[in-house]
Amino acid sequence: MTKSLKAIAQKLMTPGMGILAADESEGTIGKRFDKINLPNTLDLRRDYREMLFGASEAMKTYISGVILTEETLKQEAADGTPFRAILADADVIPGIKVDRGAFPMPGDTGEKITEGLDGLRQRLAQYAELGAGFAKWRAVITINDIAPTRNNIRANAHALARYAILCQEAGIVPVVEPEVMSDGEPGNHSLERCAQVTGDVLENTFKELRLAGVDLAGMLLKPNMVLPGINSRERPTVEEVARRTVEVLKAHVPAAVPGIAFLSGGQTDEEATAHLSAMNRIGGKPWPLTFSYGRALQNVALRTWAGRRENFNAARAAFTHRARMNALAAQGEWTNEMDRAA
Ligand code: G3H
Repeated sequence: MTKSLKAIAQKLMTPGMGILAADESEGTIGKRFDKINLPNTLDLRRDYREMLFGASEAMKTYISGVILTEETLKQEAADGTPFRAILADADVIPGIKVDRGAFPMPGDTGEKITEGLDGLRQRLAQYAELGAGFAKWRAVITINDIAPTRNNIRANAHALARYAILCQEAGIVPVVEPEVMSDGEPGNHSLERCAQVTGDVLENTFKELRLAGVDLAGMLLKPNMVLPGINSRERPTVEEVARRTVEVLKAHVPAAVPGIAFLSGGQTDEEATAHLSAMNRIGGKPWPLTFSYGRALQNVALRTWAGRRENFNAARAAFTHRARMNALAAQGEWTNEMDRAA
Protein backbone atom coordinates (compact mmCIF):
# COMPACT_ATOMS: atom_id res chain seq x y z
CA MET A 1 0.00 0.00 0.00
CA THR A 2 1.20 3.49 -0.76
CA LYS A 3 1.75 5.75 2.21
CA SER A 4 -0.77 8.18 0.79
CA LEU A 5 -3.76 5.85 1.24
CA LYS A 6 -3.03 5.62 4.92
CA ALA A 7 -2.50 9.39 5.13
CA ILE A 8 -5.85 10.11 3.41
CA ALA A 9 -7.69 7.66 5.68
CA GLN A 10 -6.13 9.25 8.75
CA LYS A 11 -6.94 12.78 7.59
CA LEU A 12 -10.57 11.77 7.05
CA MET A 13 -10.54 10.56 10.65
CA THR A 14 -9.06 13.78 12.09
CA PRO A 15 -10.31 13.94 15.70
CA GLY A 16 -13.41 16.12 16.00
CA MET A 17 -14.19 15.91 12.30
CA GLY A 18 -16.33 13.69 10.10
CA ILE A 19 -17.66 13.13 6.60
CA LEU A 20 -20.60 14.81 4.89
CA ALA A 21 -22.40 12.34 2.61
CA ALA A 22 -23.78 14.55 -0.16
CA ASP A 23 -23.83 11.78 -2.75
CA GLU A 24 -27.56 11.36 -3.20
CA SER A 25 -28.18 9.97 -6.66
CA GLU A 26 -30.45 11.92 -8.98
CA GLY A 27 -33.33 9.68 -7.91
CA THR A 28 -32.67 10.04 -4.19
CA ILE A 29 -32.21 13.83 -4.22
CA GLY A 30 -35.44 13.93 -6.24
CA LYS A 31 -37.24 12.22 -3.35
CA ARG A 32 -35.78 14.73 -0.85
CA PHE A 33 -36.77 17.69 -3.06
CA ASP A 34 -40.22 16.21 -3.54
CA LYS A 35 -40.85 16.43 0.19
CA ILE A 36 -40.36 20.21 0.05
CA ASN A 37 -42.21 20.55 -3.27
CA LEU A 38 -39.18 21.34 -5.40
CA PRO A 39 -38.58 20.05 -8.91
CA ASN A 40 -35.44 17.97 -9.42
CA THR A 41 -33.52 20.26 -11.80
CA LEU A 42 -29.79 20.51 -12.46
CA ASP A 43 -29.77 24.14 -11.24
CA LEU A 44 -31.50 23.33 -7.96
CA ARG A 45 -29.21 20.38 -7.32
CA ARG A 46 -26.26 22.73 -7.94
CA ASP A 47 -27.69 25.45 -5.67
CA TYR A 48 -28.33 22.96 -2.90
CA ARG A 49 -24.79 21.60 -2.98
CA GLU A 50 -23.42 25.13 -3.27
CA MET A 51 -25.29 26.04 -0.10
CA LEU A 52 -23.68 23.11 1.76
CA PHE A 53 -20.12 23.41 0.46
CA GLY A 54 -20.10 27.18 0.90
CA ALA A 55 -20.81 26.83 4.64
CA SER A 56 -17.19 27.67 5.25
CA GLU A 57 -17.15 27.55 9.07
CA ALA A 58 -18.67 24.05 9.08
CA MET A 59 -16.52 22.80 6.23
CA LYS A 60 -13.25 24.14 7.65
CA THR A 61 -13.87 23.16 11.26
CA TYR A 62 -15.96 19.99 11.35
CA ILE A 63 -15.89 18.29 7.94
CA SER A 64 -12.85 16.31 6.77
CA GLY A 65 -14.34 14.91 3.55
CA VAL A 66 -17.43 15.14 1.37
CA ILE A 67 -18.87 12.29 -0.69
CA LEU A 68 -20.04 13.60 -4.05
CA THR A 69 -21.82 12.22 -7.07
CA GLU A 70 -20.07 12.26 -10.43
CA GLU A 71 -22.29 15.17 -11.44
CA THR A 72 -21.17 17.27 -8.44
CA LEU A 73 -17.50 16.31 -8.72
CA LYS A 74 -17.49 17.85 -12.20
CA GLN A 75 -19.85 20.74 -11.39
CA GLU A 76 -19.36 24.45 -10.73
CA ALA A 77 -21.07 26.90 -8.39
CA ALA A 78 -23.33 29.53 -9.99
CA ASP A 79 -20.37 31.96 -10.29
CA GLY A 80 -18.32 29.38 -12.20
CA THR A 81 -16.06 28.26 -9.32
CA PRO A 82 -15.63 24.47 -9.49
CA PHE A 83 -16.95 22.72 -6.39
CA ARG A 84 -13.59 20.98 -6.19
CA ALA A 85 -11.93 24.38 -5.71
CA ILE A 86 -14.41 25.37 -2.98
CA LEU A 87 -13.67 22.14 -1.13
CA ALA A 88 -9.91 22.49 -1.62
CA ASP A 89 -10.10 26.00 -0.17
CA ALA A 90 -11.67 24.56 2.99
CA ASP A 91 -9.09 21.72 3.04
CA VAL A 92 -11.86 19.15 2.63
CA ILE A 93 -11.08 15.91 0.76
CA PRO A 94 -13.47 15.20 -2.12
CA GLY A 95 -14.83 11.68 -2.31
CA ILE A 96 -16.99 10.00 -4.92
CA LYS A 97 -19.82 7.49 -4.79
CA VAL A 98 -18.89 4.92 -7.41
CA ASP A 99 -21.59 2.27 -7.14
CA ARG A 100 -24.46 2.37 -9.63
CA GLY A 101 -27.15 1.62 -7.08
CA ALA A 102 -28.77 -1.42 -5.47
CA PHE A 103 -30.99 -3.57 -7.68
CA PRO A 104 -33.28 -6.53 -6.93
CA MET A 105 -31.38 -9.74 -6.38
CA PRO A 106 -32.53 -12.62 -8.59
CA GLY A 107 -35.00 -14.75 -6.63
CA ASP A 108 -37.91 -13.75 -4.49
CA THR A 109 -36.31 -12.75 -1.21
CA GLY A 110 -36.76 -8.99 -1.41
CA GLU A 111 -32.98 -8.52 -1.30
CA LYS A 112 -30.73 -6.24 -3.32
CA ILE A 113 -27.32 -6.46 -4.92
CA THR A 114 -25.23 -3.40 -5.70
CA GLU A 115 -24.07 -2.93 -9.29
CA GLY A 116 -21.24 -0.91 -10.80
CA LEU A 117 -18.14 -3.08 -11.12
CA ASP A 118 -18.03 -3.13 -14.94
CA GLY A 119 -15.67 -0.42 -16.14
CA LEU A 120 -14.93 0.65 -12.57
CA ARG A 121 -11.15 0.55 -13.05
CA GLN A 122 -11.40 3.14 -15.86
CA ARG A 123 -13.85 5.33 -13.93
CA LEU A 124 -11.62 5.30 -10.85
CA ALA A 125 -8.63 6.44 -12.91
CA GLN A 126 -10.74 9.36 -14.14
CA TYR A 127 -11.95 10.25 -10.62
CA ALA A 128 -8.37 10.15 -9.33
CA GLU A 129 -7.42 12.61 -12.11
CA LEU A 130 -10.23 14.87 -10.93
CA GLY A 131 -8.79 14.81 -7.41
CA ALA A 132 -11.00 12.29 -5.60
CA GLY A 133 -9.14 11.03 -2.52
CA PHE A 134 -11.70 8.47 -1.43
CA ALA A 135 -14.74 6.58 -2.72
CA LYS A 136 -17.89 4.96 -1.44
CA TRP A 137 -19.77 1.77 -2.37
CA ARG A 138 -22.97 0.93 -0.50
CA ALA A 139 -24.27 -2.60 -0.11
CA VAL A 140 -27.84 -2.96 1.18
CA ILE A 141 -28.74 -5.87 3.44
CA THR A 142 -32.42 -6.54 4.02
CA ILE A 143 -33.89 -8.22 7.07
CA ASN A 144 -37.22 -10.02 6.64
CA ASP A 145 -38.60 -13.49 7.40
CA ILE A 146 -36.35 -15.16 4.83
CA ALA A 147 -33.55 -12.63 4.46
CA PRO A 148 -30.72 -12.01 4.56
CA THR A 149 -29.71 -15.15 2.69
CA ARG A 150 -26.17 -16.47 2.70
CA ASN A 151 -26.14 -15.93 -1.05
CA ASN A 152 -26.93 -12.21 -0.72
CA ILE A 153 -24.46 -11.58 2.08
CA ARG A 154 -21.69 -13.28 0.09
CA ALA A 155 -22.53 -11.55 -3.19
CA ASN A 156 -22.54 -8.10 -1.57
CA ALA A 157 -19.36 -8.79 0.41
CA HIS A 158 -17.62 -9.98 -2.75
CA ALA A 159 -18.64 -6.86 -4.68
CA LEU A 160 -17.43 -4.63 -1.83
CA ALA A 161 -14.06 -6.38 -1.90
CA ARG A 162 -13.71 -6.11 -5.71
CA TYR A 163 -14.53 -2.42 -5.45
CA ALA A 164 -12.14 -1.83 -2.55
CA ILE A 165 -9.09 -3.38 -4.20
CA LEU A 166 -9.73 -1.46 -7.44
CA CYS A 167 -9.86 1.77 -5.42
CA GLN A 168 -6.57 1.04 -3.71
CA GLU A 169 -5.00 0.23 -7.07
CA ALA A 170 -6.09 3.71 -8.24
CA GLY A 171 -4.69 5.41 -5.10
CA ILE A 172 -8.18 6.08 -3.74
CA VAL A 173 -9.26 5.14 -0.19
CA PRO A 174 -12.30 2.84 -0.31
CA VAL A 175 -15.06 3.52 2.17
CA VAL A 176 -16.68 0.12 2.56
CA GLU A 177 -20.38 0.45 3.40
CA PRO A 178 -22.39 -2.67 4.19
CA GLU A 179 -25.70 -1.24 5.44
CA VAL A 180 -28.05 -3.49 7.36
CA MET A 181 -31.28 -1.60 6.84
CA SER A 182 -33.36 -0.53 9.82
CA ASP A 183 -35.70 1.75 7.86
CA GLY A 184 -36.56 -0.80 5.16
CA GLU A 185 -39.60 -3.10 4.81
CA PRO A 186 -41.00 -4.69 6.92
CA GLY A 187 -38.65 -3.14 9.50
CA ASN A 188 -40.08 -5.01 12.48
CA HIS A 189 -36.94 -6.91 13.51
CA SER A 190 -35.42 -6.70 16.98
CA LEU A 191 -32.18 -5.02 18.02
CA GLU A 192 -30.70 -8.46 18.70
CA ARG A 193 -31.55 -9.65 15.18
CA CYS A 194 -29.82 -6.55 13.80
CA ALA A 195 -26.79 -7.30 16.01
CA GLN A 196 -26.59 -10.88 14.73
CA VAL A 197 -27.01 -9.91 11.04
CA THR A 198 -24.57 -6.98 11.31
CA GLY A 199 -21.96 -9.30 12.85
CA ASP A 200 -22.47 -11.89 10.11
CA VAL A 201 -22.26 -9.26 7.35
CA LEU A 202 -19.08 -7.70 8.81
CA GLU A 203 -17.46 -11.12 9.23
CA ASN A 204 -18.14 -12.00 5.57
CA THR A 205 -17.11 -8.56 4.34
CA PHE A 206 -13.70 -8.71 6.04
CA LYS A 207 -13.18 -12.28 4.85
CA GLU A 208 -13.70 -11.13 1.24
CA LEU A 209 -11.60 -7.98 1.73
CA ARG A 210 -8.70 -10.13 2.94
CA LEU A 211 -9.13 -12.63 0.09
CA ALA A 212 -9.03 -9.77 -2.43
CA GLY A 213 -5.79 -8.49 -0.89
CA VAL A 214 -7.21 -5.20 0.40
CA ASP A 215 -4.86 -3.40 2.79
CA LEU A 216 -7.05 -2.77 5.80
CA ALA A 217 -4.91 0.20 6.88
CA GLY A 218 -5.88 2.03 3.67
CA MET A 219 -9.68 1.81 3.93
CA LEU A 220 -12.51 3.03 6.15
CA LEU A 221 -15.65 1.19 7.26
CA LYS A 222 -19.07 2.85 7.03
CA PRO A 223 -21.48 0.61 8.93
CA ASN A 224 -24.99 0.90 10.31
CA MET A 225 -25.53 1.18 14.05
CA VAL A 226 -27.20 -1.76 15.77
CA LEU A 227 -30.86 -0.73 15.96
CA PRO A 228 -34.26 -2.37 15.95
CA GLY A 229 -36.25 -2.07 12.71
CA ILE A 230 -38.10 1.19 12.26
CA ASN A 231 -41.49 -0.52 12.76
CA SER A 232 -40.42 -2.50 15.82
CA ARG A 233 -41.97 -1.61 19.17
CA GLU A 234 -38.64 -2.03 20.91
CA ARG A 235 -37.28 1.23 22.31
CA PRO A 236 -33.69 0.68 23.43
CA THR A 237 -31.91 3.41 25.34
CA VAL A 238 -29.13 5.39 23.72
CA GLU A 239 -26.64 3.53 25.93
CA GLU A 240 -27.98 0.10 24.86
CA VAL A 241 -27.62 0.95 21.18
CA ALA A 242 -24.12 2.27 21.78
CA ARG A 243 -23.05 -0.74 23.84
CA ARG A 244 -24.38 -3.37 21.38
CA THR A 245 -22.97 -1.54 18.36
CA VAL A 246 -19.50 -1.30 19.89
CA GLU A 247 -19.66 -4.96 21.00
CA VAL A 248 -20.54 -6.15 17.50
CA LEU A 249 -17.86 -3.99 15.89
CA LYS A 250 -15.21 -5.17 18.36
CA ALA A 251 -16.07 -8.78 17.60
CA HIS A 252 -15.82 -8.42 13.81
CA VAL A 253 -13.78 -5.38 12.73
CA PRO A 254 -9.99 -5.81 12.73
CA ALA A 255 -7.96 -3.29 14.70
CA ALA A 256 -5.93 -2.53 11.55
CA VAL A 257 -8.87 -0.53 10.12
CA PRO A 258 -7.96 3.14 10.71
CA GLY A 259 -11.49 4.35 11.35
CA ILE A 260 -15.22 3.80 11.35
CA ALA A 261 -17.61 6.47 10.05
CA PHE A 262 -21.28 5.63 10.57
CA LEU A 263 -24.23 6.22 8.28
CA SER A 264 -27.34 7.69 9.91
CA GLY A 265 -29.83 5.36 8.19
CA GLY A 266 -33.05 7.24 8.85
CA GLN A 267 -32.49 8.00 12.55
CA THR A 268 -33.61 11.44 13.70
CA ASP A 269 -30.84 14.04 13.71
CA GLU A 270 -30.57 13.98 17.51
CA GLU A 271 -30.64 10.17 17.74
CA ALA A 272 -27.77 9.82 15.28
CA THR A 273 -25.75 12.38 17.26
CA ALA A 274 -26.60 10.92 20.68
CA HIS A 275 -25.69 7.38 19.62
CA LEU A 276 -22.34 8.48 18.20
CA SER A 277 -21.49 10.42 21.33
CA ALA A 278 -22.46 7.52 23.61
CA MET A 279 -20.28 5.10 21.61
CA ASN A 280 -17.37 7.48 21.91
CA ARG A 281 -17.76 7.52 25.69
CA ILE A 282 -17.12 3.77 25.77
CA GLY A 283 -13.43 3.06 26.31
CA GLY A 284 -11.13 0.40 24.88
CA LYS A 285 -11.95 0.66 21.18
CA PRO A 286 -9.09 0.08 18.72
CA TRP A 287 -10.41 2.53 16.09
CA PRO A 288 -11.79 6.09 16.19
CA LEU A 289 -15.53 6.46 15.49
CA THR A 290 -17.04 9.39 13.60
CA PHE A 291 -19.94 10.27 11.31
CA SER A 292 -20.48 9.99 7.58
CA TYR A 293 -24.05 11.22 7.66
CA GLY A 294 -26.33 12.18 4.82
CA ARG A 295 -29.81 12.91 6.14
CA ALA A 296 -28.83 13.52 9.79
CA LEU A 297 -26.55 16.39 8.71
CA GLN A 298 -28.79 17.81 6.01
CA ASN A 299 -32.45 17.51 7.08
CA VAL A 300 -32.85 20.93 8.70
CA ALA A 301 -30.56 22.71 6.23
CA LEU A 302 -32.56 21.32 3.30
CA ARG A 303 -35.86 22.53 4.72
CA THR A 304 -34.40 25.93 5.64
CA TRP A 305 -32.95 26.40 2.15
CA ALA A 306 -36.28 25.47 0.51
CA GLY A 307 -34.89 26.11 -2.97
CA ARG A 308 -34.06 29.81 -2.42
CA ARG A 309 -30.60 31.34 -2.65
CA GLU A 310 -31.71 34.12 -0.29
CA ASN A 311 -31.98 31.39 2.40
CA PHE A 312 -28.35 30.32 1.98
CA ASN A 313 -27.17 31.98 5.21
CA ALA A 314 -29.93 30.55 7.40
CA ALA A 315 -29.54 27.08 5.85
CA ARG A 316 -25.76 27.23 6.33
CA ALA A 317 -26.27 28.15 9.99
CA ALA A 318 -28.55 25.10 10.43
CA PHE A 319 -26.01 22.84 8.72
CA THR A 320 -23.15 24.29 10.79
CA HIS A 321 -25.05 23.58 14.00
CA ARG A 322 -25.60 19.91 13.08
CA ALA A 323 -21.99 19.53 11.94
CA ARG A 324 -20.78 21.00 15.22
CA MET A 325 -23.02 18.75 17.31
CA ASN A 326 -21.73 15.69 15.46
CA ALA A 327 -18.13 16.86 15.76
CA LEU A 328 -18.68 17.02 19.53
CA ALA A 329 -20.25 13.54 19.39
CA ALA A 330 -17.20 12.25 17.53
CA GLN A 331 -15.30 13.06 20.72
CA GLY A 332 -17.99 11.84 23.11
CA GLU A 333 -18.64 15.41 24.23
CA TRP A 334 -22.16 16.10 22.97
CA THR A 335 -25.03 16.75 25.34
CA ASN A 336 -28.72 17.18 24.73
CA GLU A 337 -28.66 20.49 26.58
CA MET A 338 -26.00 21.93 24.25
CA ASP A 339 -28.02 20.90 21.25
CA ARG A 340 -31.21 22.48 22.56
CA ALA A 341 -29.53 25.61 23.88
CA ALA A 342 -28.31 26.38 20.39
O1 G3H B 1 -25.01 5.61 1.78
C1 G3H B 1 -25.53 6.27 2.66
C2 G3H B 1 -25.25 7.68 2.80
O2 G3H B 1 -23.95 7.96 2.40
C3 G3H B 1 -25.51 8.08 4.23
O3 G3H B 1 -26.80 8.46 4.27
O4 G3H B 1 -26.77 9.05 6.68
O5 G3H B 1 -28.77 9.41 5.22
O6 G3H B 1 -28.08 7.09 5.89
P1 G3H B 1 -27.64 8.50 5.61
